[in-house]
Amino acid sequence: MKRIAILASGNGSNAVRILQHFYTSESVKVVGVFSNKMNARVLEKFIDRDHAAYFFESNEELLEQLQAEEADYVVLAGYLKLIPLEVLSVYKNAIINIHPALLPKYGGAGMYGVNVHKAVKASGESETGVTIHLVNEVYDGGRVLFQAATAITENDSAKDIARKVQALEHEHYPLIIEKLINDEF
Ligand code: GAR
Repeated sequence: MKRIAILASGNGSNAVRILQHFYTSESVKVVGVFSNKMNARVLEKFIDRDHAAYFFESNEELLEQLQAEEADYVVLAGYLKLIPLEVLSVYKNAIINIHPALLPKYGGAGMYGVNVHKAVKASGESETGVTIHLVNEVYDGGRVLFQAATAITENDSAKDIARKVQALEHEHYPLIIEKLINDEF
């Protein structure tokens, strides 16, 4: 059984999709969600579903929690901080992130959530999308595993763009996590 830990600090829609995807899996178990934000909605969502929800205040505490849960993979789902070296060195090629744009465009520090969609809109792009990548010490810098695009029109607001991108995220992220665990990359 492979054990995955989800790191999240926001609303948790991807985290819940991932939880649902692996619910009946006999080879993958979601051990819980881990957040650096005490009031993150994702923590409530996991508690409501009778799943473990951890709050951590330091990198050391996070690593202790991951190791206590014997996590094999770390999945970032709306987690905005850089992953510390002590965690990266334990989880080599086993940390995956989703970014709501077609990297390398609209990546880097400060580019998260609605900020990304506003920047895409301001640039008048005709498409955007989602990037799923391995995590290294550079923000949004690890090897890209998957990208999918969606068309946007002049009339789309940043909110419309967010909705289109989230639909792609929910469709693909659980499947790409599964492929990573099955060594298919
Ligand atoms: C997702 O759109 C994810 O791509 C983004 O945060 C959102 C979390 O939504 N992540 C980043 O911007 C990372 N740079 P959710 O909490 O509903 O899953």
